[in-house]
Amino acid sequence: MTREEERIRADFPLLSKNNVIYLDNTATSQKPKKVIDDVAEFYRTLNSNPMRGLYDISVRATERVEEAREKAASFINAKNSSEIVFTRNATEGLNLVAYTYGEEKLSEGDEVMISISEHHSNLLPWRLLCERKKAVLKYFECDETGVFSLEEFKHALSAKTKIVAMSAMSNVFGRENVITPFVKAAHECGAVFVADGAQSVPHVRTDVSESGVDFLAFSGHKMFAPMGIGVLYGKKELLEEMPPFLSGGEMIEYVHRDSERFSAPPYKFEAGTMNAGGAAGLLSALQYIDSVGFENIMKREEELSEYMLSGLVKIPHVKVLGSDEAREHHGIFTFTVDGVHPHDISEIMSSKNICIRAGHHCAQPLHEFLGVRSTARASLGYYNTKDDIDAFLKTLSEIRGVMGFMD
Ligand code: ALA
Repeated sequence: MTREEERIRADFPLLSKNNVIYLDNTATSQKPKKVIDDVAEFYRTLNSNPMRGLYDISVRATERVEEAREKAASFINAKNSSEIVFTRNATEGLNLVAYTYGEEKLSEGDEVMISISEHHSNLLPWRLLCERKKAVLKYFECDETGVFSLEEFKHALSAKTKIVAMSAMSNVFGRENVITPFVKAAHECGAVFVADGAQSVPHVRTDVSESGVDFLAFSGHKMFAPMGIGVLYGKKELLEEMPPFLSGGEMIEYVHRDSERFSAPPYKFEAGTMNAGGAAGLLSALQYIDSVGFENIMKREEELSEYMLSGLVKIPHVKVLGSDEAREHHGIFTFTVDGVHPHDISEIMSSKNICIRAGHHCAQPLHEFLGVRSTARASLGYYNTKDDIDAFLKTLSEIRGVMGFMD
């Protein structure tokens, strides 16, 4: 391990205190000590219900939440922090849009278009919405390496398309879908564009003002923050015209026996006591990213990806899904080993304390499209080391032998 790697890993208690080789960063990232401490500090010193109390600690808890909102807005270059709705995770943000904007705007015969590579979180809310509204769910396909053609996308759009939903980075291919031209094309057709940013926001620069995307959902836990806090970005004018999702406390200005007036966004969409400790953790995570430098995180992930792919391609019987260029993977390597079930790969890795994921990664239609039932996935984070990758590659190269193959 290099000095730099030692210094980075010292920030992450789980990695520095266990001999675990954590290669499941696409599922969730590890948490820096600073984030863990800042969440504990919130509960030790500020714990109170934010947005309600007029006493000191509640006011300060509210300020912490609003600081997190400002920070999240600037991280994705939103024009206004009122465009940042706190959710539990990306899944909840995508459901929120389907159950509010979708419910209000979609009519019988309209079309919702999604990509074939979507995570189930950006597929099922739309399918269920289409079923409720008697609308049509259409898929647009990529090539076998995960590349989407803008021309084919434009061709698939029609005057009936009201919503396009697409991830800005696949959790299987790791490839960034540069959404800006797709957003423009959707707008030219009169559709709104909903982006799943769960994988992209932690790994590539996100600029909602530049892309013009209408909604973007992401989770804090994939980018060093605690589980249970996520963000839905929505354009102000859209959030204003949307009905609420959940109803209850703190999302109203007043309630009388037979009438009510909802709060302005984002509060209209934040019914009930919010996850203020999670928001404090998200703020701390974004500050941690700033302290390291997002460019440095991206650069390190690219270097590790180069090292990983150059090792993977040398192992016989291993097939990597997606691009043959490391920089298109953003640390995500989904693969198969001829003759070996991905669950066996994962079990054998686990016997060596190596954590990877196996299955369909909540992207079953994509697996069906690619003609594979399931895959294994090793995904790198900023704090992984070349030693981690060497251990993984060594175990991978031995797997067919362990399973009784002679070559
Ligand atoms: N969406 C996460 C993954 O891809 C859980 O593993």
